[in-house]
Parts: sequence; structure tokens; C-alpha cells
Amino acid sequence: MDQQEASVATQAGPGTDGADAPAPAQAGAGVQLETRPPAVEVSGLTKSYGDIEAVRGIDFEVAAGETFGFLGPNGAGKSTTIKILCTLARPTAGRASVAGHDVVRERDAVRRNIGLVFQDTTLDNYLSGTQNLRFHAELYAVPSAAVEPRMKQVLDMVGLWDRRDSLVSTYSGGMQRRLEIARGLLHAPHVLFLDEPTVGLDPQTRSSIWEYINDLKTREDITIFLTTHYMDEAEHCDRIAIIDHGKIVAIDTPEALKASVGKDRVQIQTADDAAAIRELASVFGIEAAMHEGAVTFSVESGEEFVPQLFARLTVPIRSVSVSRPSLDDVFMSYTGTTIRDAEASGTDHMRQMAARFRGRR
Ligand SMILES: Nc1ncnc2c1ncn2[C@@H]1O[C@H](COP(=O)(O)OP(=O)(O)OP(=O)(O)O)[C@@H](O)[C@H]1O
Ligand SMILES: [Mg+2]
Repeated sequence: MDQQEASVATQAGPGTDGADAPAPAQAGAGVQLETRPPAVEVSGLTKSYGDIEAVRGIDFEVAAGETFGFLGPNGAGKSTTIKILCTLARPTAGRASVAGHDVVRERDAVRRNIGLVFQDTTLDNYLSGTQNLRFHAELYAVPSAAVEPRMKQVLDMVGLWDRRDSLVSTYSGGMQRRLEIARGLLHAPHVLFLDEPTVGLDPQTRSSIWEYINDLKTREDITIFLTTHYMDEAEHCDRIAIIDHGKIVAIDTPEALKASVGKDRVQIQTADDAAAIRELASVFGIEAAMHEGAVTFSVESGEEFVPQLFARLTVPIRSVSVSRPSLDDVFMSYTGTTIRDAEASGTDHMRQMAARFRGRR
């Protein structure tokens, strides 16, 4: 995100009317998914930057209290969608509302209801943790009596209370990310947007941030909208939309998405991969392709298939792995490529290969 957008974001407060600041959320408030209007409603949303169609007509709803994830590779349109929902970019076409307010016509009302953690850090490094939070509280006109207790609450939640007076420049990357999450929560937003909340962090820090997020769900009545390209992270969501090339290609619970793929994934290392792919086609009628450096294909029951594979394939097999459908398989089945391949390539060549692989379906 560039500096200009950062400054727009920091000013995304309730304007001059302090009375409009939301009251702190009730701790432990229950989640009532079904009775309340949706937290986010999007229909026919499109965003073009010149010739680039970043978002190409997407529709979805996020229920109040839901944790909703956008899963997709680099350049899929995740951040662009978040920017539109947070009123930092205008849609080219279509409509979107957040907490019941239109993102174009009611920008201030939207901003009052949201918390935002950007993909790139926007903390002030020369201020301490508490100074960063106080500055944010002022921008959002959090009632002064509420600031100190709320600050304690959110800093405790992310485990930074003891380090609150240290300069942010002395924080580790994971601590900075946690402070940003605390800042996003300070004004008790109804909808929290997290754009790649754990990107670039080590697995331990990533999992501790997820502990905070899951804990948050039990304490605050909040809807969470996050983007990620980590499959394991997507598993934390109630529902996921898989987005690729600006379009939603699938949307459901992680379990339902995995069930929709159904098949086991088999990956084999062989002495001659090209010959193995040919033999799989001629002997078993299976179309295999190279993914992540291994011959990869799907079958109904991997364990039952492996003995046949050894009995009938003439190409020497060096290793075999069988896995149940994962979100990566869901991604592969809807987009024709694994998310890692898509991330690694970003080239038309890979897309063409993927399209050829997809051609079998
Ligand atoms: N301000 C801009 N001007 C021109 N093109 C843009 C702009 N912002 C985004 N894009 C383009 O829109 C497409 C979607 O970008 P976006 O940032 O939404 O992707 P993303 O899914 O968030 O990817 P990542 O995982 O890398 O963060 C990309 O092709 C990107 O180059
Ligand atoms: Mg992004």
C-alpha cells in the first residue's frame, strides 16, 4: 500500500462528530448468525485500473459474526476488494455495503464501523505501542474515559501490555503485527478487515496470532473478513471464497469445499516422469500432471490404488504419497493449478499449462 492510501486510512475516523463513536463492544457477546442483517453485502462488484481488471464482477455476503476468508494467489484481487469495502477505492461497477452502509454513498458510516489491518505495516515506528494506540483513539474519537481501559484490554489480548511503552521500532515483526491487530480493534469495530494478517511471519508467530483472533471471537461481537494465501489459515474461517483472476470460483465452508473435491491426491516420484504420465493415461486412463515437482493425479481411494500402481506401472517408482483432499486440492480443482504453482509462476505459460491440465474436466 502506498503512503497516500495509508494516510487516507489513518484518517478513516468518524470525522468531527465524536458522539458518533461506537461504544465498546460487550465482552462475551454471543454470535447470532441467523437473525441479523449481513455484515457485508457485495453484488456485481468490479474494479478496473486502466486495462487491468482487478475484480471482475463478484457477489457474496458475509453474515454478522462470521469469520470469512478470501483465499487466492498474488494478484487475485483480494486487497482490491478489501480497499473497496473499506472505502479506500471506488468500485468501477456494482455495489457493496458494510454494516448496512453503502461503501460509496455512506463512507463515513462505513468507516465508523470497521477496523482495518493492512497488508503492509502502517505503524509509526518512532512512537511507543501506547502512543500509536492513543493517536488512533483520537482519530476515531473514542470517548476519552474509554481509551485507557480499552487500550489495556486490547494490549492484553495480543500479549503486548508489558511492552506497551517500548518504541515500535524495537518490536519484532510478529509483535508489530499484533499491535496492528490491537489498533484495529481499539474503537470496537463491528467488522474487522485483516489483509494477509500473518504474511511473512514464522509458523509459531502465525499460530499465536490465530490464537488471538480465535480468542477475540469469543470476547467480542465481531465479524472478521480476512485475506490469505495460506491454506492452513483458511481452515480457521467459517466460510471461504476462492478468488482467482478477479473472480470468485468457489464459496463455501472449508469442509464442504473439500468434500466437493472428493478424491484423494496421489503424488509419485519416478525414474521417468514423462513416461509415468504416459503410462498412467494408457494403463489406467488417468490424466496426471507435474505439480510441485511430482507426478500428481486424483483417484477415488488412494490406498487401494497404490498396490495396482506398483503392479502395473513399468516405470520405476521412487516414492508415493497419498493425501485426503485439502484446500489446496480444492484450489487446484477450481483453478487448474496449486496455489504454490500459481504463486511461483504468475506467468501466462503456467496459466496455459494449467488450462491444459484443466481441459480434462
Ligand atoms: N493501484 C493500482 N493500480 C494499478 N493496478 C493495480 C492497483 N492495485 C492493484 N492493481 C492490480 O490489480 C490486480 C489485483 O491486485 P490485488 O492487490 O488486489 O491482489 P491481491 O489478491 O491482494 O494479491 P497479493 O496476494 O499479492 O496481495 C493486480 O493485477 C494488481 O497489479
Ligand atoms: Mg493483497
